[in-house]
Amino acid sequence: MNIPSLPPAALEKIRSSKNITAITGAGISQESGIPTFRGAGGFWKNYKAEELATPEAFSKNPNLVWEWYDWRRDLCLKAEPNPGHLTLAKWESHATSFHLITQNVDGLHVRAGSKQLKQIHGNIFTTRCTKCEDLRPIETSGRDSFCRKCDSPLRPHILWFGEMYDTTLLQSCYEIASRSEVILIIGTSANVSVPASMAEEAIRRGALSIEINPETTSLSGSVDYCLQGKSGEILPKFFYDIYESK
Ligand code: OAD
Ligand code: ZN
Repeated sequence: MNIPSLPPAALEKIRSSKNITAITGAGISQESGIPTFRGAGGFWKNYKAEELATPEAFSKNPNLVWEWYDWRRDLCLKAEPNPGHLTLAKWESHATSFHLITQNVDGLHVRAGSKQLKQIHGNIFTTRCTKCEDLRPIETSGRDSFCRKCDSPLRPHILWFGEMYDTTLLQSCYEIASRSEVILIIGTSANVSVPASMAEEAIRRGALSIEINPETTSLSGSVDYCLQGKSGEILPKFFYDIYESK
C-alpha cells in the first residue's frame, strides 16, 4: 500500500518547528467505528445529526435527543483510540508546543493520552444543568436526569447547532492557531465555519498547512499539501518520516 508523505524539505520544516497545531474532526474517529456526521452511517433512526443536535430538538423532545446521545455515548465507550489518535498524543513530547483542537466529543483523544487538548464542541461524557450550568461526568453505572444541585433537567454538555461558542475557549484557540508554524487539518469536512476559520487563521499567518483526508474539502485548495487517505494509516507513517526515520 502506498501511503502518501511529504517532500524532505517539508518534513525538515516540521521537524524544526516549535509550535504545531492539529485540528481534528469526526474523520479521525471513523476508523474506531464512530460514524462521521455527514458521511454514510451518520443517520440514527432516520434522523440526521443536524435534526437532533439542536436546542429546538431538545426542547421539543428531550427524551429522543437523550436517547440518541445515550446510543452515541455507548458507541464511544466501546470504541478504542486508533493509531491516528495515538500518534497525535505521542506528538506532544516531540514538539516544544503541540496543541490539539478537536470538534469531536467522543473522548478518544483524551483516552489516547492527549493533554494539550481543546474540545471545542464539548464532551459526550459530561452533563450540564439547563439552569445552574453545573457540569458533571456521566458515570458508567448510569446517567442522572436531574441536577443534583437544583433539580432542573440535565442536557448533554455539547455545543449544538445555532449555539454560541465559549468565548474564552475560542480566543485561546485562535491564539494557538495564530502562532502555529505548522497546522494539520485532519478528518474534517470544514463545514463548520468556526473551526475552519481557526485553520484559515494559521494559514493566513504563514503556517505550513497539511490536510489529511480521503476526500477534498473546502480547505483543500488553500493548504500547502493534501495527504489523501485515512488518518489512522497516514499519521503514524508521517510521524515516523518526521521524527523517527533518521
Ligand atoms: P464531518 O462528518 O462533516 O466530516 C468528516 C470528514 O472526515 C470528511 O471530510 C471525511 O472525508 C473525513 N474522513 C472520513 N473517514 C476518514 C478517515 N478514516 N480519516 C480521515 N478523514 C476521514 O465531520 P466534522 O468535520 O467533524 O458539531 O463535522 C464538524 C461538526 O459537525 C461536528 O463536530 C459536529 C457536527 O455538527 C457539533 O456537534 C457541534
Ligand atoms: Zn442545576
